[in-house]
Amino acid sequence: MAATGIRTVIAGTGSYLPEKVITNFDLEKMVDTTDEWILSRTGIRERHMAAPEQATSDLATEAGRGALEMAGVDPADLDLIIVATLTPDHYFPSTAGFVQRNIGAMKAAAFDLEAACTGFIYALTIGDLFIRSGTYSKVLVIGAEVLTRFLNWEDRETCVLFGDGAGAAVLVPGSDGKKGIISTHLHSDGSMAELLYAPAGVSRMPITKEAIDQKLNTVKMRGNEVFKVAVTRLSEVVDEVIQANGLGEDDIDFLVPHQANLRIIQATARKLKLPMEKVIVTVDVHGNTSAASVPLALDVAVRSGRIKEGDQVLLEAFGGGLTWGAAFVRW
Ligand code: UT7
Repeated sequence: MAATGIRTVIAGTGSYLPEKVITNFDLEKMVDTTDEWILSRTGIRERHMAAPEQATSDLATEAGRGALEMAGVDPADLDLIIVATLTPDHYFPSTAGFVQRNIGAMKAAAFDLEAACTGFIYALTIGDLFIRSGTYSKVLVIGAEVLTRFLNWEDRETCVLFGDGAGAAVLVPGSDGKKGIISTHLHSDGSMAELLYAPAGVSRMPITKEAIDQKLNTVKMRGNEVFKVAVTRLSEVVDEVIQANGLGEDDIDFLVPHQANLRIIQATARKLKLPMEKVIVTVDVHGNTSAASVPLALDVAVRSGRIKEGDQVLLEAFGGGLTWGAAFVRW
């Protein structure tokens, strides 16, 4: 908890989406699927795909620049950069280091964090702790993914779901003690790791010709099982936020959920008794961008003027690990 009494404020948000758009109709030409199936089961119409020369750090850099500009923070003054990603540029060194180099934040410490789709909530939590402890005063947290490079484009059960993108937030100490991150809640259940994972590519099963031939370096998901756990765990974590902060029915102005599936989002909204007008939905145009999904949706909502000063905003995510978490923020 806050030893200093400081509260962490999100001073700026940013996001970046690669130019190329893949529609459901494009996918109809690639695998045995239909726009009708994808839209009715997931809510997704289209997703973005990085250009061949773009790596995760390139997307992260653009999102980070946007957030720094909104916050009015000079990159040279940053103390820390955290990039949440499951699709790093390399397995080492960190993607955050490339972002640091690109933006010229040479005073900052930099590292990556892997908590799959919940990565941004984890990164926000760590950034918040560094600010509240008084250790750092300017932290850049980013969620960024180039997932389309890790998909099996012959597997209709996964390739229709994911997209590329990046979202970012700049964290600083607040001055009024009211605005800012009020609580964060993190969870993990490693016993279900293989419901959503990439079997090969690193130490458990290094890259071999056989592994590549069997596409074991791509995302595998037991979608229906993940769906059920997601609905239950997200319901529990939003309850936790309500209990921790003593919230009543009208205390949440906006829900910014992980954008994996519109049906999961609707289930969480129902649980919170929130009308869909108070839910930020971008899954239709972004698809599932894993760690980028929540900060991308947040930036869209902030820049469009939907989320305004004084609004109380609940962020939540669920994903591989399995991991899940939430953050409650007063804007
Ligand atoms: O972000 C990290 C966390 N991830 C999630 O939260 C994702 C959670 N899971 C989901 O969103 C959903 O489970 C999916 C969208 C992945 C799948 O939806 P579902 O309603 O659970 O479908 P299902 O897996 O039970 O499959 C139903 C049918 C199957 O056919 P049969 O066995 O009933 O004949 C699938 O083969 O739909 C078939 N199917 C497809 N058909 C057309 C699966 N993918 C497709 C497809 N196009 N792309």
